[in-house]
Amino acid sequence: MNKPVGKHLLDIKSLEHQEIEMLLKRAEHWSEQKSPSGPLPLAGKFAVNLFFEPSTRTRFSFEVAQKKLGLNVLQFSAESSSVTKGETLYDTLKTLESMGVEAAVVRHRESRILEPLADRVNIRLINAGDGVNAHPTQFLLDVLTMKQHFGSLKGLQVAIIGDLRHSRVARSHLWGLPRLGADVMLSGPEQMIIDPQKEGVAYPERIRVLPVDEAIRRADVVMMLRIQLERHDGELFSSPEIYQRQYGLTLERAEQMKKEAVIMHPAPVNRGVEIADELVESEKSLILKQMENGVYTRMAVMERALGGMEIWQPYLQTVNM
Ligand code: CP
Repeated sequence: MNKPVGKHLLDIKSLEHQEIEMLLKRAEHWSEQKSPSGPLPLAGKFAVNLFFEPSTRTRFSFEVAQKKLGLNVLQFSAESSSVTKGETLYDTLKTLESMGVEAAVVRHRESRILEPLADRVNIRLINAGDGVNAHPTQFLLDVLTMKQHFGSLKGLQVAIIGDLRHSRVARSHLWGLPRLGADVMLSGPEQMIIDPQKEGVAYPERIRVLPVDEAIRRADVVMMLRIQLERHDGELFSSPEIYQRQYGLTLERAEQMKKEAVIMHPAPVNRGVEIADELVESEKSLILKQMENGVYTRMAVMERALGGMEIWQPYLQTVNM
């Protein structure tokens, strides 16, 4: 395995299995310890959060994670930066790099915007969500949450329901979950479904498209997705009421879930559309736990980008090599 230090994080498919395991173990360490007890591992270093699209969870959990590790965090607003004068993302990254900033967390509306830049910059790139392509840290925090609850992903039945077509979260899970042993069920309106074969995922045989009620009845994890109206270019969506009745996790559908099954959602949540208001903070819901785990996961991701090998040494013996 390549050393898990000084790395970009562009997507899940480019992570080796052992790297995923190590990141999860380190995130679990932070979930137990919450904050460093001794010297701050990344003290004195600089990171920047470049968000070209709105965000609450990803942006602020990265910032909390970075500050817990001792990083100096630079904030960025596209509206008040030289992007408004036509500066490219490459030039923005090189500018920050020349000032000694060592990591850039980037959210962007354009899919795969970081891939052609990765070999051209030294600043570590961390994908915080690019278009409909990938959301690797959401994948990691979701998997951490599932592992904490179920122990293992082997044989876990995960139903991902909703606007799959516009979901970078779903695409990261399609790549990652089957590799970790989970079976994935997809469900939603026909015009929002994706074809796993066309996505070119690693284990398409572990992915099935099912009617929503069947997926909910079979699932150990019911993961609901928001309708991403901001990415729709046509009439894909009739009304919140019709959508909820046809595809939403209503109280009636939640009654059909297995006794031990849980509800997840990457959020933001549209209460009363893809999920009933009462279910968001119900006993079955892990949604707030996902948000908490976002901090611990992003601490591990920042350490992978900027920390030394000594952080990872204890985990090398414990992951399947
Ligand atoms: N889940 C997620 O990416 O949320 P934000 O858009 O608020 O970051």
